[in-house]
Amino acid sequence: MGKALERRAMTAVVDDICDSVGDDPTAVLKVTRLKKKNEYTYLHCVAVSALMIALGRHLKLGEDTVRELGLAGLLHDIGKMTIPTDLLEKPGRLTAAEFEIVRAHPENGYAMLMEDNMSSIVHDVILHHHEKLDGSGYPHRLSGDSITLHARIGAICDVYDAVTSKRSYKRQWTPSEALTQMRSWTGHFDPEILDAFMRCISIYPIGLLVRLRSNRLAVILTENVTRPTEAMARAFYLPRELQFIEPADVRLSSGLKGDAVVEIEDPERWFPGEWEGVRDAVLSGQQPTFATLGDLSAATVAS
Ligand SMILES: [Fe+2]
Ligand SMILES: [Fe+2]
Repeated sequence: MGKALERRAMTAVVDDICDSVGDDPTAVLKVTRLKKKNEYTYLHCVAVSALMIALGRHLKLGEDTVRELGLAGLLHDIGKMTIPTDLLEKPGRLTAAEFEIVRAHPENGYAMLMEDNMSSIVHDVILHHHEKLDGSGYPHRLSGDSITLHARIGAICDVYDAVTSKRSYKRQWTPSEALTQMRSWTGHFDPEILDAFMRCISIYPIGLLVRLRSNRLAVILTENVTRPTEAMARAFYLPRELQFIEPADVRLSSGLKGDAVVEIEDPERWFPGEWEGVRDAVLSGQQPTFATLGDLSAATVAS
């Protein structure tokens, strides 16, 4: 995610992935074979595994479940073993026929592991990480509650890693760009789990309303590309006093010291019907007041 490598954190991730694989030689062998076939898919699976472990823990799912999520992440694209390498590495758009072949990977992966003694979480994530909440995903066009929590977690971690990865044929998205895009695809991801994912990796899209540790509401202002967890936010409102304040820029801190995001806030709760006006005023450096808000929204309507 563009952060400097921290040896201690890396060891923890490796430990977690090792725990997930446990002493299951089938899983290890399958992942190793995937590495030989396609390096990118292998690295993607390792990244998705680490993200799913982190998100599972953030959601307080219990260590047994977290371990299964890690294994599910590691194996989620194992069905890509069945796709010809030149198709896996084809730059640019796929033809409809090629796309059909690629779209078979969840079912092929599921079939590959059916005889192995894997948990239902692993099977479920392999088969359903491309389903979407609105029913437009594949392979089963599942919608709403028929998509499990584990598959929803898998879907978010999978797409986040895919779009922020470097491929020869496309520009990688920055973490904040990725989250902006992912939030805009309504009907794709579970919005509550996506919020939890942002808090989990401490990365937020520009324009998001958040509450800071200093108990001020702020708008995420800019992204720090080299240190994504240290973005700038502009504090502008005291939620306890229900009062606008002179906007003040804050560098978010990823450590325990300094100011940090503690919650993602619902703009409609604080500024019903007025949020766009408030946000635009704050982003342009003005201090909104409730008295001017009527004017701002009237101006928006008039234009
Ligand atoms: Fe996939
Ligand atoms: Fe994937």
